[in-house]
Amino acid sequence: MNYKHYLENKEFIDKIGFNPYFNVIKSDLGDKIIVNNNEYINLASNNYLGLANDERIKEASIEAIKKYGVSLCGTPIACGYINLFEELEKKLAAFVGCENSLIFPSCYQANNGLFFTLVEKNDLIIFDRYAHSSLLEGIKLSGIKSRFFLHNNVEDLENILKKSTDYSNLYIATESVFSTEGSIAPVDEILVLCKKYNAKLIIDDSHGIGVIGENGKGILEHFNIHDFDGIYTASLGKAFANAGGIICSKNEIIDYLRFYTPHLIYSTAITPATLGGINKTLEIVENEFKNIKNKLYSYKQKIYDALRRKKFDIVDSEAPINSINSNSRENTISLTKNFFDNGLFVTPFIEPSTPRNKCKIRLIAGANLTKETIDSAVNIIEKIGINNK
Ligand SMILES: Cc1ncc(COP(=O)(O)O)c(C=O)c1O
Repeated sequence: MNYKHYLENKEFIDKIGFNPYFNVIKSDLGDKIIVNNNEYINLASNNYLGLANDERIKEASIEAIKKYGVSLCGTPIACGYINLFEELEKKLAAFVGCENSLIFPSCYQANNGLFFTLVEKNDLIIFDRYAHSSLLEGIKLSGIKSRFFLHNNVEDLENILKKSTDYSNLYIATESVFSTEGSIAPVDEILVLCKKYNAKLIIDDSHGIGVIGENGKGILEHFNIHDFDGIYTASLGKAFANAGGIICSKNEIIDYLRFYTPHLIYSTAITPATLGGINKTLEIVENEFKNIKNKLYSYKQKIYDALRRKKFDIVDSEAPINSINSNSRENTISLTKNFFDNGLFVTPFIEPSTPRNKCKIRLIAGANLTKETIDSAVNIIEKIGINNK
């Protein structure tokens, strides 16, 4: 099935002579990036706060290497658990509004491990139809019964909950900020349903941490949620500009997952350099988020306004993500080529990342870009919009 899709996509890409995937980057994430020897304005990275190239974070990573080496060559349960790891578990949990956390080498791994370990035979997982692959594959891996609800549709969710009476535990899984849409899950309403139907919320805040909430603390801060009783996960490779993934929850859940999640205890611990970098990012976000946020959201608005003016079909989003509904695969790849040819590096999503004919092109303008670069990006969008008519 997948192989058939691959062949179809390959045939199309070969025909138009343009492949937007696995392009080789030959620079850091500066104001411009070098892709395949050409200079581009980068609207493709999840470098929301523009910290990927921050000298202070680089320095902190180097310091951690000097102190702990490049690797602990062991899993956290054995000999890979350094004091920086332990400290960060507490700090990150407190930052997002939870009791405790676990740090995995990636959020993909964290999400996979979570479902595999937490959910049991007679449970049901109800997930948003647009949930990220790491949640979907985690659910599949668990082998537990699951059903999807329509994207951000609490009525549909409630209808499913009403009929789900024969299960030991109910879990509702969703992203907070949807990565290809920029839409935000109605977590306040979902939590009301959780209470009513005795379900537990699993929320992936990968695109919310360091991005939403008054102080950048993510989805729980955004909705002013205290004493969160569910499970929170997030990637530290996006706004946090490092790598790694966290699972945060109440102490008793974290204590269980700490000893029973194979994806944590049988995988080499996240590197000291990354932990040092995350630690510095956390300090920067805590001190500087409000200033950086203004730039990030004003850039999003400028790109949004340009896309709107040129009549692109865009998804309305509260988050600093602009997403074009490019629909068919053919239109998506052709439009992406047009962006690339004019110097804008963007991200096209086609099946299986999106449902067929619901393809999207995503544009994220990181706060590290200069105002002049954003103006150039706006000019390019205006030019492409005119040519598109
Ligand atoms: C919503 C969401 N969850 C999880 C992940 C995986 O995170 P990581 O890159 O840390 O594995 C991503 C990354 O694309 C994501 O967008």
